[in-house]
Amino acid sequence: MTDRGRRSWAEPWKIKMVEPLRMTTRSDREQAIRAAGYNTFLLRSEDVYIDLLTDSGTNAMSDRQWAAMMLGDEAYAGSANFYRLEEAARNAYGFRHLVPTHQGRGAEHLLSQICIRPGMLVPGNMYFTTTKHHQELAGGRFVDVIVDEAHDPASLHPFKGNVDLAKLERLIREAGADRVAYLSLETCVNMAGGQPCSLENIREACALCHAHGIRVFLDATRAVENAWFIREREPGYAHWSIARILREICRHADGATISAKKDCLVNIGGMLLLNDDDLAEEARNLCVVYEGLHTYGGLAGRDLEAMAVGINEMVQPEYIHARVGQVAYLADRLLEARVPIVRPVGGHGVFLVASEFLPHVRREALPAQALAAAIYIDSGVRAMERGAVSAGRDSTTGENLYPALELVRLTIPRRVYTQAHMDVVAESVIDLYENRDLITGLRFTYEPRRLRFFQARFEPEQGDTVLRWRAGEQAGDGPAPAMSTRRSDTDRVPVRHP
Ligand code: F0G
Repeated sequence: MTDRGRRSWAEPWKIKMVEPLRMTTRSDREQAIRAAGYNTFLLRSEDVYIDLLTDSGTNAMSDRQWAAMMLGDEAYAGSANFYRLEEAARNAYGFRHLVPTHQGRGAEHLLSQICIRPGMLVPGNMYFTTTKHHQELAGGRFVDVIVDEAHDPASLHPFKGNVDLAKLERLIREAGADRVAYLSLETCVNMAGGQPCSLENIREACALCHAHGIRVFLDATRAVENAWFIREREPGYAHWSIARILREICRHADGATISAKKDCLVNIGGMLLLNDDDLAEEARNLCVVYEGLHTYGGLAGRDLEAMAVGINEMVQPEYIHARVGQVAYLADRLLEARVPIVRPVGGHGVFLVASEFLPHVRREALPAQALAAAIYIDSGVRAMERGAVSAGRDSTTGENLYPALELVRLTIPRRVYTQAHMDVVAESVIDLYENRDLITGLRFTYEPRRLRFFQARFEPEQGDTVLRWRAGEQAGDGPAPAMSTRRSDTDRVPVRHP
């Protein structure tokens, strides 16, 4: 008899077209990361083997989405694709009005401009970089009201994205409802490690705000992944479809900003969704100024069509199971080796706790930035810093912010990589963890004024690399040794033959 509990699952798709990857040597990678100022954002993608920088716009589209690209109606106004997207978005999220934008931050810009007046507060469940920046540009001040557990990477709270209702209530009471622009409620909170909110918490947070006449706008960028966790973890929803949970998440809110480059399975696009007719009118008007006419919002007709098809695919149960399952697979391999990661595992990536991974690197020496650079040097895997560099400086005092979480994000693009790729990533990270003493810190050589993590440059605090060679190994002209003792004797990025 077969033990059904031991059956493996695999991706609900097969590969129709491949994009060959360039293999590099450790010396190639040392050179590339130095040229990039030790910032993985500044690497050229051709120098990257497995690209886990982000899950944003890096999705593989389906054959149906590619076919839909041929149906682009590239009219300036009133494109047929807009109306198909409008219908798909309304079915999936339930809001009445759609204003398309070139990507998520375009929607954040419009929403911030129409809803925030100088001096207003914008409470939210942990900040997101672009969201907070647009809120501040509009004269607002972001106030974090997420539950304390979100700041503790070891807490196993199932909904670490939840709003702390007591914090929110206190803020409303102390500031006065008139000074609160809206609640900015993110689903599957990115900066907390892809942590979901419960439906109960979404309902209660919305009810509390509405009782004070305060609107709630979701950042529904990863709401589908949030819906999956609600079905898995929140009592009462195990038999609901993902599509139904998604609509239920949105039903309580007044609108949403969405980066379609995540859940919606496209490479570019965003949406501002609203219920209120007057706000929608204002948003359409501003859209014309900043994005493009309100029926294309900075996108080509074919992009709108691919998004409409992606929105239909994103709620399919087999898809979302495989998507979140792949993230969990990588996390399980790292946990087996006791690598410190944020738990519970989130929906879009595995977050390494760099401050625990590199206890010998001071916060000022930017352990997460250094660890991301070291991972790249070791295996050509590109990750992203999500710690002090991302947090930037306090907008009033100008002091560096040191958030509780100092993380490196291994972000998994949707439908792009296989389990073998995940094994390569896990082996590199585990190896580095076992040899963490070889990793040293960084310091800034260039710090941009806005969203500094994208373009900042760094140099090693000691020597000319962040990943020292092991005793007995040395850089040379010949094939440099790989980090791993388990690996073959070539320094090519390991290729597994399944
Ligand atoms: N909101 C969230 C939660 C996001 O993760 C992002 C983007 C945005 C808004 C902005 O959307 O990029 O389309 O303008 N996150 C990317 C990331 C950049 O890598 O996490 P965008």
